[in-house]
Amino acid sequence: MTKLISHEIDIVKSETSKINAVDFDNLTFGRTFTDHMFICDYENGAWQTPRIIPYQPMTMDPSARVFHYGQAVFEGMKAYKDADGKVWMFRPEDNFNRINKSSARLAMPEFPKEYFFKGLTTLLQMDSDWVKPGKGNSLYVRPFIIATDPAISASPSNNYRFMIICSPAKAYYTDKIKVLVAEKFSRSANGGVGFAKAAGNYAAQFYPTSLAQKRGFQQIIWTDADTHEKLEEAGTMNVFFRINDKLVTAPVSDRILDGVTRKSIIQLAQDNGIEVEVRPITVTELKNAAKAGSLKEIFGTGTAAVISPISAFEHAEELFELPNIDNSYADTLKDTMLNIQHNLTEDKHGWRYGV
Ligand code: COI
Repeated sequence: MTKLISHEIDIVKSETSKINAVDFDNLTFGRTFTDHMFICDYENGAWQTPRIIPYQPMTMDPSARVFHYGQAVFEGMKAYKDADGKVWMFRPEDNFNRINKSSARLAMPEFPKEYFFKGLTTLLQMDSDWVKPGKGNSLYVRPFIIATDPAISASPSNNYRFMIICSPAKAYYTDKIKVLVAEKFSRSANGGVGFAKAAGNYAAQFYPTSLAQKRGFQQIIWTDADTHEKLEEAGTMNVFFRINDKLVTAPVSDRILDGVTRKSIIQLAQDNGIEVEVRPITVTELKNAAKAGSLKEIFGTGTAAVISPISAFEHAEELFELPNIDNSYADTLKDTMLNIQHNLTEDKHGWRYGV
């Protein structure tokens, strides 16, 4: 191992790369990781010197609070490579701001901006061969923070670990998905942590989603916890409904994640002259629109899934199939966004971030 000391980050480079063993045409989402990882520990009230080391397992005390109380937050971002071999990220500042918002809600310390961006860019430069060019290829970047204090008293940790790991990715869903509208389970509540990328938000979805999967649905459209009438998110994504030519999506709130893809799609739709209504939308409105034939599309948006079209939904044992349409907003908006992300078109909003 070569130990290089940089002024800002201690770097230990991997002597060999695992890259030649990877079949980039057959990737399962989130299973393959690049050669290096970024680590920064929070001890004695301060973030310590950051490190980049070869990707490897790590040891942790069994009493570390993350294992007991789920004090953990994360982010999802992607890096793209253009035809000239340059690596780009998409709106990473929004992810940086959001991880600190999530941390604040989970009583965790803010992570410094300089460390976040220096860590991100250095890691991506070191592992840039793992970012493959071409639309449909990306490197999924996962920053996360866990509570490491070896103590099981139910109170915030004094010590934390911030890390970034990276995983080459293709499509998250390869086909359109069928979803079940939640009638009993909920994802979030007023005053809760639904807006945060808190690890436990995702764990709590697994059981209801597994019940839906047994019935042939891939995801759940989450409804509000009080009435189960307001449509909120779809699985791990924000959700859009196209009614006639308008797009409707729920406003962000303390129950709904402020998705980077969501807000980009709202902007791109408006740029394309599509009217977007950001307002509550109910199950009743959705079913009436489906019955009247005015419901044209439903799609989820998220970093991992990009835009994921939904082919059918079920609620109260009524199944509604969506029509196949030629001028799909999901297809057009996905293409517009991928073109920006892959540096194939003008970036008039300044969303690309060169690594
Ligand atoms: C993302 O889209 O980045 C997410 O956080 C979804 C993830 C749970 C796979």
